[in-house]
Amino acid sequence: MTKAVTGTQPGLPAGLLAELREVLGAPHLLTDPEVTASFTTDWTGRFVGATAAVLRPSSTAEVAAVLSACRRHGVALCLQGANTGLVGGGVPLQGELVLSLRRLATLGPVDPLSGQVTAGAGVPLADVQATARAAGWAYGVDMASRQSATVGGTVATNAGGLRVLRYGDTRAQLLGVEAVLGTGQTVSHLAGLVKDNTGYHLPSLLCGSEGTLGVVTAARLRLVPPAPERVVALLGFGGVGPAVAAAGALRRRLGSLEAAELFVADGLDLVRRVTGAGPPFARTHPAYLLVEAAAASDPTDDLAQAIGSLEAVGDVAVAVDSVRAAELWRYREAHTEAINTLGAPHKLDVTLPLGSLAEFMDRVPGVVAAVAPEARCWLFGHAADGNVHVNVTGVGPDDERVDESVLALVADYGGSISAEHGIGVAKRRWLGLNRSEAEIATFRAIKSALDPDGVCNPGVLLPN
Ligand code: MLT
Ligand code: ZN
Repeated sequence: MTKAVTGTQPGLPAGLLAELREVLGAPHLLTDPEVTASFTTDWTGRFVGATAAVLRPSSTAEVAAVLSACRRHGVALCLQGANTGLVGGGVPLQGELVLSLRRLATLGPVDPLSGQVTAGAGVPLADVQATARAAGWAYGVDMASRQSATVGGTVATNAGGLRVLRYGDTRAQLLGVEAVLGTGQTVSHLAGLVKDNTGYHLPSLLCGSEGTLGVVTAARLRLVPPAPERVVALLGFGGVGPAVAAAGALRRRLGSLEAAELFVADGLDLVRRVTGAGPPFARTHPAYLLVEAAAASDPTDDLAQAIGSLEAVGDVAVAVDSVRAAELWRYREAHTEAINTLGAPHKLDVTLPLGSLAEFMDRVPGVVAAVAPEARCWLFGHAADGNVHVNVTGVGPDDERVDESVLALVADYGGSISAEHGIGVAKRRWLGLNRSEAEIATFRAIKSALDPDGVCNPGVLLPN
């Protein structure tokens, strides 16, 4: 068993916890290590921090009071939603107090005219989806962790997920935010005006800032028209290249295409071993594409026609009911949990130019083996976005040789070292692979303007 990346815990100034208890009420300041343990280890088990307390505010005013007390005492905060992040950004590795935002759980109502809703930072993604659905709308962001991932976390990381090819990432849904900045000021711009050219777009800046500039407490979200009729199909291919080409062709031909997810034979074997699922086809294929089309009326014929026009498809399975659709989705969505059964993985979530994706995926196992022959490499992702999740198991949590080599290869191809999970603590050493000195200096200037005392997520995103 390998040790996790662990954090330190400095002492706290006298009186701070008493002051925070006064703000939050005693039940919402947690100090029992058995209770706080689930807030100090990340979902993968790779990052283990330590904290003197978990703070659970229930309103923007309480967040502002906590922030102001922490600034006065010079104590840093680690901002946390559901703790489903994958790059260690929500774990108190420097002994920060954990600011858990799950109690900011106010949602709705949906504005039926504009198709918008305001959600508190702690609202789970699945609740936004269900509320939108009940009001005759839909929310464009979806991911496997939908039941737990929170609106605040998805905004802070600009989460992508399964439907980016049709609806864009979280930033594309964001019409406004309310936030308490590191300066202690509360900014609230939640009117949801679609046309609103009145200066700097703070929602865009805060979205993807990974909690380094302030605490997003609520978001005004754009909803999309519902597409209730769905069809799911799994396609087998002779390699990643033809699968990626097919995703592009389907996207061009099928306006209703909502997902085009990629996995390979090794990953499918692992998922089947862990879940006990049967094989999708009588024979094995090197690469698989899971596609979903969704529209107001049944898109099955359109999908069948589009698949019929593809070259190089080996096998096709079309789900005729929702049970089979869920089974097909499980082959893809169970990758994350299946990989975790092998030990804490290094999760390298990267984007490649689409034309280089297949070559990169071909080369990456060799690059990993060259520095860590004992490691195993697992590849899956979002084919239409050029986004592949390179998961590496069998290396120690703080052994960064594999990360170094894979991210350097990504940069060689002109890709991004973080597609959708963020930089967190896991990748900040390599931010310079994608961002110039001038860009990083600009990031630092923004950080010191909005969080001058470094109270918000000090160990995240920016290199030391
Ligand atoms: C996914 O696409 O399944 C998520 O990004 C989670 C992961 O990378 O494990
Ligand atoms: Zn993903």
